[in-house]
Amino acid sequence: MKFRPEWARSHFPALDRPAVFLDGPAGSQVPRSVIDAISSYYAKHNANHGGCFRTSRESDAVTDWARRSCADLLGVADPECVVFGANMTTLTFAFSRAIATEWQPGDEIMVTRLDHDANVSPWVRAAQDRGVTVRHIAIHPEDCTLDQDDFRRQLSSRTKLVAIGCVSNAVGTRNPVAEMTKIAHEAGAMVFLDAVHHAPHLAIDAAAWDCDFVCCSAYKFFGPHVGVMYGKREHLERLPAYKVRPCPETLPDRWMTGTQNFAAIAGVGAAIEYLSGVGRSVGVTGDRRAMLLGAFEAIEAYERHLGAHMLAELATLKQVKVHGITDLKRMGERVPTVSFTHAKKSPAEVAEFLGERDIFVWSGNYYALPLTEALGVEPHGMVRVGLLHYNTAAEVNELIHALRELE
Ligand SMILES: Cc1ncc(COP(=O)(O)O)c(C=O)c1O
Repeated sequence: MKFRPEWARSHFPALDRPAVFLDGPAGSQVPRSVIDAISSYYAKHNANHGGCFRTSRESDAVTDWARRSCADLLGVADPECVVFGANMTTLTFAFSRAIATEWQPGDEIMVTRLDHDANVSPWVRAAQDRGVTVRHIAIHPEDCTLDQDDFRRQLSSRTKLVAIGCVSNAVGTRNPVAEMTKIAHEAGAMVFLDAVHHAPHLAIDAAAWDCDFVCCSAYKFFGPHVGVMYGKREHLERLPAYKVRPCPETLPDRWMTGTQNFAAIAGVGAAIEYLSGVGRSVGVTGDRRAMLLGAFEAIEAYERHLGAHMLAELATLKQVKVHGITDLKRMGERVPTVSFTHAKKSPAEVAEFLGERDIFVWSGNYYALPLTEALGVEPHGMVRVGLLHYNTAAEVNELIHALRELE
C-alpha cells in the first residue's frame, strides 16, 4: 500500500489551520494521540517516580513503555540503555562532561563543520576543561558534504571521540555514519552521533551503526520536548554520572537525575506509536520495530519525491541559490531540508515575506553555526524550508508561487 499524506495529515490537529508548515526542522507538529497521551497522564497517572502506590507504579509503567518504544525507534535491544532528559543539548552537555573525565592533556577529539552547535560546543567546552585538542572535519562547500579525506587525515591514535551529526538540520546532507563509525573505532575513538535531524525522516539503526552514543529529540519526530539518548551499556555503567547521591546507581536512573517530565515522556511513547501506525497504514505487519522500519521506508520514498519536486522548482528561480546537494540524482544523500539565499532579499526578509502569507519557514543559522560560518553566510544565514511526511506537493507549489513574486 502506498503512503498517503492525507492519512498522515488527518492525525495532526494543527494542520487544520490554513497555513503551510515548513518549519518542521525546528519542531514538527504533533498528532492528536500525543496530545491525548500527555493529558491522560495528568488526568490519570500523575505521580513521581518510584513510589509504592498505584499512580506512581502506573507512571513508572508509562515511562518504561516509552523507553521500550524508544529502544525500538533507535534500533537497540536494551531499553535500560535509553535515557530521557530535558533536550538533546542538555543531555549532550551532561554526557560530554562525564566522557571527558577519561581524557588526558594531549588527547584529541573531532567535531564537524556540518553539525548543529549542540554537537560541537559541549565537546569544545569539555576539551577546554581537560586540555584536549579539538579538530574540525571540513566540508565541501559546493555541496555541503563532509570531507571524508579530511576526516581520515586528522584521525589518529590520539583521537578519543568523534562527534558526528547523522543528517544536517540546515542543508539536509546525510552523513555515512556507519562507515565513519567503523573508521573511528579502528583508530580507537568513541563515536557520538546526533540523530536529531535524522529521526523524523529515516530509520535509526544504532546497533548496526555500532555507535557508542546516539541522541535525538522527540519534538522533531512528532512528539513533545524531551531529549532521548542511547549509550552502550559498558559506557553507561563505567562513566561517572554527575548526579545527586540519593539517585540510584542503576541504569537508566543514574543518567536521569532530577525529576523527569513524565507527561511528556508519555507523549514520546505516543509519537512512536503514531510512527508505527504509519507503517501499519502502508500494510506492514509484525512487531513495533518492523512497523517503524516500514514507516520510514514509506516516509523516505515519499519525502524523496517531494524534495526532488521542491529542488526542481527552486532551480527555476533566478534569485535563489540553494546551498547543499541539488543534483536530483543524489536525492538518496539528503533529506528534504533545504536552505537557500536570495540575491535581492535577506533571509529574514524572505522569511517575513513568506510568514505574512502564512508560509512558515526559518531564517538565520538555526544553530548550525559551524556550517553557516564555513559557508560564509553569517551574520544573516539562510532561509530554511523543511518538508516532513505531512507536507504536500500543493504546499511546495504555494511556496514557489510566493517566491516567484520576489523574482
Ligand atoms: C541536528 C540538531 N541537533 C541538535 C539539536 C538540539 O536539540 P535540542 O533542541 O533538543 O537541544 C537540534 C535542534 O534544532 C538539531 O536540529
